[in-house]
Amino acid sequence: MKTVKTILEVREQVKKWRSEGLTVGFVPTMGYLHEGHASLIDTSHKDNDRTVVSVFVNPMQFSPNEDLESYPRDLEHDKALAEEHGCDMIFNPDPCEMYHENFSSFVDMTVLTEELCGLSRPIHFRGVCTIVSKLFNIVKPNKAYFGKKDAQQLAVIRHMVDDLNMDIEIIGCPIIRENDGLAKSSRNTYLNADERKSALVLSHSLEKGKELIKSGVKDCQEIISEIKSVIDSEPLAKIDYVKIVDEATMQQIESLDRPALCAMAVYIGKTRLIDNFFTEDI
Ligand code: PAF
Repeated sequence: MKTVKTILEVREQVKKWRSEGLTVGFVPTMGYLHEGHASLIDTSHKDNDRTVVSVFVNPMQFSPNEDLESYPRDLEHDKALAEEHGCDMIFNPDPCEMYHENFSSFVDMTVLTEELCGLSRPIHFRGVCTIVSKLFNIVKPNKAYFGKKDAQQLAVIRHMVDDLNMDIEIIGCPIIRENDGLAKSSRNTYLNADERKSALVLSHSLEKGKELIKSGVKDCQEIISEIKSVIDSEPLAKIDYVKIVDEATMQQIESLDRPALCAMAVYIGKTRLIDNFFTEDI
């Protein structure tokens, strides 16, 4: 496995692979890789002849009050994990390689980005769409892999690829959880021991929602208020949102009459965690 820092190196390597008739899978990440990322790399490794992983903490998707500076980083660990799971090349650019001094073009999206995380993170998806478009233009993969934990991001990327006629297949991969149910996230490292216990309220409350749906409840407000009451019983938890939306448009729905996403963002202390389930996966 090689690690490269420049766009030119990525392009030359991918061009060589293409000339040999090889397919390329791509896993974009912000590093500090965990089993969630490992499962994306595994899937890409199975589906494609070669796999590229990008490790880049993208400043453009963080608001000034967010955790860009403190976002965890460990490139040596990332290299070892990526290699173990079949990655052929890590792309680890410096910010100035991705954003030159006069950078002034953006990829933005309406509607899908206006709900859920878009409400509390207004510039986030513009940053995600811009960096993912740039990475797609650099790597030019056949397929790209995203986790379902960032369900809105997955829907936004699918929509962007469709809107902008990008010739890339987007594959959504299941959420990977700790044994006790907490969804794997690089941000879990921010939690102290008490917060780590409290964070289980996200997956527990989602289980409550799933039970209600399995028992036949279709009214979204009823499901949401039951989920919220589980979260409110945890003193360290503060709800950002709990919503049920149409799986494709990310718009809120009243009744479970179509494939839907039940998504939440909850602060545990200062750490904002997200989790969700798709009704189709119940
Ligand atoms: O999901 C992430 O880690 C990031 O949002 C992504 C897709 C790598 C873009 O920076």
